[in-house]
Amino acid sequence: MFHVEHSLRCSTWNIPPADSARLKPRPAMSEATEPILETTPEAPLSPQTKVIAIVNQKGGVGKTTTAINLAAALALEGLKTLLIDVDPQANTTGGLGFARDEERLSAYDLLLGHATAAEVIVPTEVEGLFLVPGTKNMIGANVELVSAERREHRLRDALEPIRADYPFILLDCPPALDLLTLNSLVAADTLLVPMQAEYFALEGISELMATLDRVAGSFNPGLTLEGVLLTMFDDRTNLSQQVRDNLQGFFADRLFTATIPRNIRLAEAPSHGKPVALYDPRSRGAEAYRSLALELMERNGHPTEKPTRPEPTFAVLDSIGEKKGIWPFRK
Ligand SMILES: Nc1ncnc2c1ncn2[C@@H]1O[C@H](COP(=O)(O)OP(=O)(O)OP(=O)(O)O)[C@@H](O)[C@H]1O
Ligand SMILES: [Mg+2]
Repeated sequence: MFHVEHSLRCSTWNIPPADSARLKPRPAMSEATEPILETTPEAPLSPQTKVIAIVNQKGGVGKTTTAINLAAALALEGLKTLLIDVDPQANTTGGLGFARDEERLSAYDLLLGHATAAEVIVPTEVEGLFLVPGTKNMIGANVELVSAERREHRLRDALEPIRADYPFILLDCPPALDLLTLNSLVAADTLLVPMQAEYFALEGISELMATLDRVAGSFNPGLTLEGVLLTMFDDRTNLSQQVRDNLQGFFADRLFTATIPRNIRLAEAPSHGKPVALYDPRSRGAEAYRSLALELMERNGHPTEKPTRPEPTFAVLDSIGEKKGIWPFRK
């Protein structure tokens, strides 16, 4: 049986203990019956801007794949979306077809206060999807920010002037609990945690939750969990099913119903500089991220029905220009 030990270790940031129990620790996953969070049961009545940090300190769990493809799916559903690459690996930036160009303005300039958000945002190939590019310079930002004023609030402050322009702002975090991730957690309203359905993936989740609890208590009292997302999921294996059942008991409605299957198209798309919805819109990966986008929209009070367009009609003319009917022909 899977067992997740709760740990309150958080030496990385020397954060004082949380004064709120917003993110409740659980003694053991197998005993858990309630959701880990004291969540507001109802979705907001009216849509509002939501900043979502995509976070998991474990590497390679699908954070960047989720950031790119969820953001693109939201934009394709008609919601203007901003994606911020907070990771020095800049994989989100590369995956959307941008060179990892260190001369260009980036999230580094935003964090260091060299440029405003409006100056660093670039449009992407997907209509309605905008990007703040990342750069490997951001490794230095971790050090440069240590002595900076309001070092944990840099990103939050920088986003303030533009946040109302986007229904969703997604932050792709690095696989570390460093100052870049901390800035993301402070800027965020909620967290989306991608996880692989494997035994070892469960081990870090309690530590992550404890850390998030402390961040919430110390810097961002409004921070809640948007949801946990199973990635690279294979529902044919017993292990996957077991992991899902355990997470369901642990996170209850905070486990997304949508799961992301292992799909080669998702792995190929970044090398073509495209989200999967453009690279192969019929793939299982594209479908899965669209389902996730719709679930997120529903939870947040955004209508998911696109206004139905009238069926296109064309006048069909015969060779001498006489009107013969309207296509598609009706019985
Ligand atoms: N559903 C999937 N199906 C197939 N391959 C996937 C899937 N999700 C992610 N991958 C692949 O797994 C690798 C890791 O994914 P990704 O870069 O999204 O993880 P990450 O959590 O952002 O990693 P890091 O912690 O290094 O930032 C990549 O090669 C990606 O293409
Ligand atoms: Mg990544």
